[in-house]
Amino acid sequence: MAATAALNDDRSGLTTSGGRSRYTKVAIVLHWAIAVFILWNLLSGFLVWDLASGFFKANRPLYFIGLISHMSSGMTVLALTVVRIAWRLTHEPPPHTSTMKPWEQHAAHIAHFLLYAGMLLMPLTGWSILSAHPPAGSHGAQIAASPMAAGSAGAASGPRPAGANAGPPVGMKGPPPSPKIWGIIPMPVITPIANIGMEPGGVKPQYILHEEFVHWHEIGGYLMLLLLFLHIAGALKHQFVDREPELQRMGLGRRKTID
Ligand code: HEM
Repeated sequence: MAATAALNDDRSGLTTSGGRSRYTKVAIVLHWAIAVFILWNLLSGFLVWDLASGFFKANRPLYFIGLISHMSSGMTVLALTVVRIAWRLTHEPPPHTSTMKPWEQHAAHIAHFLLYAGMLLMPLTGWSILSAHPPAGSHGAQIAASPMAAGSAGAASGPRPAGANAGPPVGMKGPPPSPKIWGIIPMPVITPIANIGMEPGGVKPQYILHEEFVHWHEIGGYLMLLLLFLHIAGALKHQFVDREPELQRMGLGRRKTID
């Protein structure tokens, strides 16, 4: 099974010295930290902008808590994924388990590649959504902030100045907060994307791009859900059906092999 294979093929940091079959501490911490943040991103993303979007539009402070924690968690996933990829490139791959067939190993590479792609592309598309707003103080920002522009945009997250004005849906009152990652690091924008809306002529094309990013981010969210489901199902199958010490390999429970 591809997902089973994906877990087995996770070669980042399993030490092969001394017959160990368990990932190193760094690899284990990275795995579970990324897992928790991704779960939060999926939960907060679907709640705030999908399942309970009406509630969050009506409760502005909660909307901002949702947005800031979603954004912060996603940027953390991006940073940890870069570390994880570096870790994988510099560490010897672990051996496959004995029950793994060649086709499973092949499927593992594909499934694993998709997981890494999602861990990079989801934060990058999310960051692009926030960046696809006219830069604060630009001509484009003045146009976008006018009631007419807001009306013609006709969407909850129409064009707004980048960075300082990336959060609130159109129609909410009061100035938006300046988003900071975990309330500490000012959220940078992807400048080439923000600059598209610098002049009035760029506001509409930038808005169209913004909607494209939203579209791909949403589709990516569903694909991530599917991949995670397969990943977890595969791990559980390996643990309880094939009777391999799969969860122990990722730091859960007692080790079966001696270090
Ligand atoms: C692993 C990382 C991430 C995951 C799994 C994720 C997942 C999601 C999901 C499931 C949604 C709801 C889509 C919908 O049904 O409408 C969403 C929305 C959103 N996400 Fe993310 N996200 C991630 C990272 C980020 C990052 C890093 C940012 C910003 C820096 C971000 C910004 C947004 C924004 C602005 C929306 C609302 C889009 C809209 O206007 O509808 N996301 N995300």
